[in-house]
Amino acid sequence: MDIYEIEGGFKLNGNVVISGSKNAALPIMAATILTDDKCIIENVPDLKDIKTMIELLEIIGKKVQFNNNTLIIEQTENINTRAPYEIVKTMRASIAVLGPLLAKYNKAEVSLPGGCAIGPRPVDLHIKAMKELGAIINIEKGYINAKAQKLIGTTLTLFGPAGPTVLGTENAMMAATLADGETIIEPAAMEPEVTDLGNFLIKMGAKIEGLGTSTIKVKGVKKLKGVKHSVIPDRIEAGTFITMVGACGGEVRLDNVYVAHINNIIDKAKEAGLEIETEENRVYVRKKSSLEGIEISTLPYPGFPTDMQPQFMAMLATAKGLSIITENIFEDRFIHVGELQRMGANIRVEKGTTAIIKGVNKLKGASVMASDLRAGAGLVIAGLSAEGITRVQRIYHIDRGYEKFENKITSLGGRIIRKKED
Ligand code: UD1
Repeated sequence: MDIYEIEGGFKLNGNVVISGSKNAALPIMAATILTDDKCIIENVPDLKDIKTMIELLEIIGKKVQFNNNTLIIEQTENINTRAPYEIVKTMRASIAVLGPLLAKYNKAEVSLPGGCAIGPRPVDLHIKAMKELGAIINIEKGYINAKAQKLIGTTLTLFGPAGPTVLGTENAMMAATLADGETIIEPAAMEPEVTDLGNFLIKMGAKIEGLGTSTIKVKGVKKLKGVKHSVIPDRIEAGTFITMVGACGGEVRLDNVYVAHINNIIDKAKEAGLEIETEENRVYVRKKSSLEGIEISTLPYPGFPTDMQPQFMAMLATAKGLSIITENIFEDRFIHVGELQRMGANIRVEKGTTAIIKGVNKLKGASVMASDLRAGAGLVIAGLSAEGITRVQRIYHIDRGYEKFENKITSLGGRIIRKKED
């Protein structure tokens, strides 16, 4: 298995181009199931998760070509409505094929995703949505078996313990595009990735209103057509590079960013003391003096994203004074705390949901292990800012979500290499 070996202590300078959003690309790829026409999707990041979704679409009967960040997806005659455990277990977002399969073929068999490193992550709201749209669902041998004569529009309330669900809203929206009548999703997730999927569906001919608000209305149509679409930039990748500068120092320009999507991240980084200026698609980040501790509470969009929590924690580990981070979206999303402590961070977790960070002068390099994608990014940030050598194991988690990560960091002057584990 590959590891990252990082020599910390170097400032970052230069510019970095932010890739397309993984979390927007994945449901958009699933949405191509809704049409027999060819779809072209641009600005798709070249990542493990995207390859997993390609594999799944090929099993379902699509022909997929992926070159230069562009996907060409076409229908073959080998239609299959089963998403097997072997794929779904490696990527939870595979659940996004449930709604489109059911809408297009009136049946779907999708494996339950199972546990994952950031808590139990149930799919009850996805199942509830499909049932309320008229599907009959049986859970058998670890699979969601769904069938429907025809999906019928209705009002869906998809409120989980932490608020609306992102993939659940996306699944419901995709299923509703070909249903009879009108579907209202309330509260709908307002994440930019949901809006990007909605815009893709509208181009295909879907009738959708209310994207980016908490009420999405979908009027079913008979058929959707093939289209060309360019995926939005990855706001979490942009945020990751902002916190990297916060931890390491230096001055970096981020290109290909939608500033409006990362205002919640920029506000917190500024509050901690980073200097940030923005143009329409660019962000200039500069660290002039040491950072100060801040309070963060993760919330559904437009709140502060849970997917930025570990990276901010790594940055705040060396900020002056106290920081308090409350995780409201996922249980057990503090596995990185133990690893940061091994690097000398002073962090205490209370009641499993609040981390209290007392800034230390410097982190010290150590061998650490990535437990999930964003925790892995946080550990890389910690390693880049630490004194000495850090070895990050299990970087296959990081490969799921950051395109050319070490190349981008190296181009900014960070010292990071990919190696085979000894
Ligand atoms: C998406 C993102 C993920 C991000 C998360 C929250 C993708 C591919 N992944 O995940 O990176 O961390 O949003 O911003 O877009 N819940 C239920 N029942 C359900 C579904 C969810 O209780 O059926 C709960 C979850 O356990 C969690 C909360 O709802 O507490 C939010 O999860 P959700 O928005 O569904 O996350 P994902 O869509 O899986």
